[in-house]
Amino acid sequence: MAIGGFHTLRVAAIDRLCADAVAVTFAVRPELAERFTFRPGQSLTVRRPLAGRGASAPAPDGPGGPVAAPEGPGGFVAASDGPGGLVAVSDGPGGSVAVSDGPGGSVAVSEEPGGLVAASDGSGGSVAVSDGRADPDVAGRAAVADERRSYSICAPEGSAPRIGVREVPGGAVSTWIVRDLRPGDEVEVAPPSGTFTPDLAAGGRHVLIAAGSGITPVLSIAASLLRQSTAEVTIFYGNRRTDTVMFAEELADLKDRYPARLDLVHVLSREPREADLFSGRLDAARLRTLLPLLVDVPAVDHWWLCGPFGMVTDATGVLGEAGVAPERVHRELFWVDEAPPEPVRSESELRGPSSEVTVHLDGRATTVTVEDGVTVLDGAQRSRPDLPFACKGGVCGTCRARVVEGEVTMRRNFALEEAELAAGFVLTCQSTAASPKVVVDFDQ
Ligand code: FES
Repeated sequence: MAIGGFHTLRVAAIDRLCADAVAVTFAVRPELAERFTFRPGQSLTVRRPLAGRGASAPAPDGPGGPVAAPEGPGGFVAASDGPGGLVAVSDGPGGSVAVSDGPGGSVAVSEEPGGLVAASDGSGGSVAVSDGRADPDVAGRAAVADERRSYSICAPEGSAPRIGVREVPGGAVSTWIVRDLRPGDEVEVAPPSGTFTPDLAAGGRHVLIAAGSGITPVLSIAASLLRQSTAEVTIFYGNRRTDTVMFAEELADLKDRYPARLDLVHVLSREPREADLFSGRLDAARLRTLLPLLVDVPAVDHWWLCGPFGMVTDATGVLGEAGVAPERVHRELFWVDEAPPEPVRSESELRGPSSEVTVHLDGRATTVTVEDGVTVLDGAQRSRPDLPFACKGGVCGTCRARVVEGEVTMRRNFALEEAELAAGFVLTCQSTAASPKVVVDFDQ
């Protein structure tokens, strides 16, 4: 579902997960209940208006949540991991245990490329946004500079929306949420989005592989599957140390509630475990060893990967080697460490300085002239500031739309699956027009 505008929600609760991470629960007014009904694995985009800040000011940020995106070539931002106390540990094949606690220490770190870690968020940069929709509830009507971040929902389907946020040092949104937000405060939030979500009615066998704050949507997916179906679930969860494990208590509770249908395997990269198998990073070599030992790989119906680029890429490769069909592998990135490729310019693009781009959103069509090399999202936002986006880095998928006429060239894509690409969906923040006329539909 395309995201239309933002709505003001009240913070119902803030739970400290660790020293640098919190879970924020929102209260949804009855008239917004339908719009904020979410599927497990989806995200919420949070908007922080920045009074007096220029629209071009970049946003240093990152954190906690799911997505993140960077801006510009550089890649993404950062992340961290960590929090407080909590521990968790696993255990042998199959089983698992989680333990924990302690006050903890905390951590916050970002990590080497490809490493385990976490978190994300990115900086989508700041943008001037106004909203011209008729819905009086929609926030942000005036042109106001803002910062947006997309954070995964950690709650099971049917619960109040709750997001996990980890602070990234210097992060404009995560720092505000983790340090300053209080119950009763009001926050601008866009309705749930994202396709990293299972078919709960199908049940089956699911393996979820997460690192750092990649556990956030995984917790929602696992809890929903266990609660609403007869599914069997295995979670592999990589962290640096026991005191950086997010949602350790929630995971332990889930294991206690569904001991026969949930296996929980913690892997720690910087803390020795009793078994070497569970010490180290969740990289290709470890997954190549762990998966066949603990999982009947051919019998798994769906694989859910969420974490930094390196982990997701490694896991994808290992599953490919094992013969797992790509359509059974679902991925969500929290962190990307590579620069986006330069835009590819085809002959058809060398036709002139601009294209006519029409966007459909909330049943309304708007046509704009977009200069060569400017993305569909950036170009169309000048006339339609209500177009949905968060990371502008090709990661969160918030700007997804379907091309219904013409052609575009997409620079990079870390959010859409093959089936979506085949159906004509693109990330408009990464797409430039490759034909004189382009029509994209955000409502499909
Ligand atoms: S805004 Fe995040 S992928 Fe486009």
